[in-house]
Amino acid sequence: MHILHVVGARPNFVKAAPVLRAIRQVGLRQTLVHTGQHYDRNMSDVFFSELEIPEPDFNLEVGSGSHALQTAEIMRRFEPVVLERRPDIVLVYGDVNSTVAAALVCAKLLVPVAHVEAGLRSFDRTMPEEVNRVVTDRLSDLLFTPSEDGDANLLKEGVARERIHLVGNVMIDTLVRRLPAARSLPRNGFPDRFALVTLHRPSNVDDNGSLQRILDSLIEVSGELDILFPVHPRTRQRIAEFGIDAKKLHLLEPIPYIEFLSLQSRAAVVITDSGGIQEETTYLGVPCLTVRPNTERPITVTMGTNILVGEDKDRLSGELKNVLAGRAKKGVVPPLWDGHAGERIADILQHA
Ligand code: UD1
Repeated sequence: MHILHVVGARPNFVKAAPVLRAIRQVGLRQTLVHTGQHYDRNMSDVFFSELEIPEPDFNLEVGSGSHALQTAEIMRRFEPVVLERRPDIVLVYGDVNSTVAAALVCAKLLVPVAHVEAGLRSFDRTMPEEVNRVVTDRLSDLLFTPSEDGDANLLKEGVARERIHLVGNVMIDTLVRRLPAARSLPRNGFPDRFALVTLHRPSNVDDNGSLQRILDSLIEVSGELDILFPVHPRTRQRIAEFGIDAKKLHLLEPIPYIEFLSLQSRAAVVITDSGGIQEETTYLGVPCLTVRPNTERPITVTMGTNILVGEDKDRLSGELKNVLAGRAKKGVVPPLWDGHAGERIADILQHA
């Protein structure tokens, strides 16, 4: 059995690391392809070294572009790799353009595809990742889900029961493994009480009005607690382009995984529009305010510490004040978010 993994963007690296490790332990042959969707040192290389991901066998170096360009370029450069390596199965992760591009290439070459983090749905097609999820699941032969809602969504879409495997959350595998290192990091001069912010969704940051509104709410509470804001390259470009004055916030470069985990675990509250961070805060029991109207990870709201504040500035300010007043939402860790999802995937592949 020869397994080929495709990764491209920051969250993919975090998800693939435990699966690569578990498959190595059962002794199956593996090939790793990095599409190069994320290419900055601090968006890519540092994750490979911190998470002990092996050097990719191929780097397709596609870089940035419009969705069509990026997706097409990944497909063009990935097809010859599949033809040369002839894997028995290709593993794709999450919901980024690299995921859907690789799945489409494999479907046309009749190479089986397994989707790690299948079945998540925001039911919002204005979100590019939702399109990627729906198409990838449609094309996949094996679907590894992180939670029961994923199974339910796939069954409703007519996916055969025997192709769906509830394995748990691979992103939490990485968290569980790295948490001791994160907790033992020194505070590095960071304040005692702070909010941690990440924003990169086009719907929040590409529009001058919405980016300004969100940053205004943060500036409003910045007198009460420090706001640490590691800025995604897209967001940094927009803040500069729109001439927004964000001096009252601590704008930082993107942060390596273990240091970011250390900040998350020590934050009074996390404000984000990321998918993975909603899950990580739920595991850590840290309050999370998600600046989106919906989420493909509803379990973080029903069981975890996540609150959707939508695009309403007053709601964000109100919930922030609740947290500061000690009225933060409590939660529990969802089933199978236990650090062993990668091993369950390896076990299923070994017997496939
Ligand atoms: C992508 C994923 C998103 C994921 C996010 C994590 C898609 C559709 N979106 O969004 O689901 O949550 O990664 O970060 O795949 N850039 C750099 N350096 C880099 C990478 C990007 O400067 O290493 C800049 C470029 O200007 C680029 C922009 O960031 O145009 C956006 O990058 P892109 O990969 O298109 O999407 P993300 O917004 O990162």
